[in-house]
Amino acid sequence: MNATSGSLPFPSLSPEEAAALIHNGQTVGFSGFTPAGAAKAIPKAIAARARDEHNAGRPFQIGVITGASTGASLDGELAMADAISFRTPYQSNQILRKRINEGKTRFFDMHLSGVSTAILNGSLGKVDYAVVEACDITANGEIVLTTSVGVSPTLCRVADKILIELNAYHPANLRGMHDIFEMPLPPNRREIPIYKAADRAGSPVIKVDPKKIAGIVHTQLPDETGEFVPASPVTDEIGRRVADFFASEIRAGRVPKEMLPVQSGVGNVANAVMAAMGNHPEIESFDMYSEVIQDSVIDLMDKGKIRFASGVSLSLAPSTLKRVYGDLASYRDRLVLRPQDVSNNCEVVRRLGILAVNTALEIDLSGNVNSTHVLGKDIMNGIGGSGDFTRNGYLSVFVAPSVAKGGKISAIVPLATHIDHNEHSVQVVVTEHGVADMRGKTPHERAKLIIENCAHPDYRPMLRHYCNVLASDGHAPQSLRDAFAMHRHFLETGDMRGVHW
Ligand code: COA
Repeated sequence: MNATSGSLPFPSLSPEEAAALIHNGQTVGFSGFTPAGAAKAIPKAIAARARDEHNAGRPFQIGVITGASTGASLDGELAMADAISFRTPYQSNQILRKRINEGKTRFFDMHLSGVSTAILNGSLGKVDYAVVEACDITANGEIVLTTSVGVSPTLCRVADKILIELNAYHPANLRGMHDIFEMPLPPNRREIPIYKAADRAGSPVIKVDPKKIAGIVHTQLPDETGEFVPASPVTDEIGRRVADFFASEIRAGRVPKEMLPVQSGVGNVANAVMAAMGNHPEIESFDMYSEVIQDSVIDLMDKGKIRFASGVSLSLAPSTLKRVYGDLASYRDRLVLRPQDVSNNCEVVRRLGILAVNTALEIDLSGNVNSTHVLGKDIMNGIGGSGDFTRNGYLSVFVAPSVAKGGKISAIVPLATHIDHNEHSVQVVVTEHGVADMRGKTPHERAKLIIENCAHPDYRPMLRHYCNVLASDGHAPQSLRDAFAMHRHFLETGDMRGVHW
């Protein structure tokens, strides 16, 4: 019996009734990986409950575990209501980000491939409730997820109780798009049988003990994803250079003509890179083995440039998702959504030989990358899966516009103020000005390549002075006295330009 064809043996609850089951101090794991597939009605009701409790002078906060970022009804509402005792992993909500950076909400960042293991081994504490969005559920406990998988299978496995948001916005025949492969803890873990992006290793559904399902909240709500910012000349140029670089790798015989699977990061720059890859005449067609499937991937599938896309979430603008649902039978054969510990797994990433393209906030002269902390201090979003793919990719590329904030900040700096990806994992850097291919180069050679090929012309003289005069000795270009002078100058004047060493 399924949700669309008959009644279910689970209590039907209002969002408020579901929220009333959750108590202060409990930990709740929510579905969601980007706003795609994120629980919406229940977290919003929990936030309202927290406000009521706070108004009555009583404490109310819950620990929040998700797959990655979520939507406004989850991270936004709970943050606004001061209802979060801790939050992990990745987030990208403005309100939550502000609270984290003000020290008001405890947040710890994790590699996304490691979240399931941490939940399973108990290092994140007990999970009281899993709140999971589904498009279908059967009486015997088969849950069909919606637009993301994230860590939902693990949350359902370990949580004492499960609450389902059965969202009629998504068609029940999404069944078949998910590949739920669950891994036990070591020493019982075995290889993941995925040998190409399109392989399926698990089940189309999460199977749970029906007795664990505490209730179902019926909703009809779209994912809270936005439309993409249109590509700019800068992001177009970065994309073109990345595509040219991969084409030159094909010509050199280091990447096969039929291409290796591509992983592309999140955000506007990544979206533009994918579009450029698809338009390159020397790149015929390729598979995606990635994490977030963004709009450009669907556009490229329609053009026949992307053969197959494996990811954790279908994070599409509403208009693009409508297009997919309009022809689901055809897209379902070319898309698979996996748990994040499988999609980002080092074993699979290494085996498939992923071409990894991720975005940096700042890149230093040795090739270390900061993707997460502005001025080493304030979190932007989190490391997400960028570390999983960068460390294990066949080729690891970082992209960034050469400057931020109208030119006042250089993305190329002497020393990164926070390091997410170190020089040993980062092989190629691309900005709108060019490509620094650092393979086989010494630290001083790398620094010169990054300055001459990638830095904005406004910043080249000061970076050359740093490299050639202030930090010219030793194995790596490092001057402890001067390494953060550009950042200090920005803090003092609001502009990195005009630094006096
Ligand atoms: N210092 C301060 N701010 C900076 C900066 C720097 N060095 N570099 C960029 N920024 C700001 C931009 O000005 C922009 O701010 P705004 O929104 O106020 O205009 C913001 O950071 C985002 O920059 P943008 O150029 O639009 O990039 P994006 O949308 O492509 O996102 C990251 C870039 C790095 C924030 C994003 O890719 C990210 O969170 N990455 C880490 C996780 C990840 O890679 N996941 C993918 C794995 S599959």
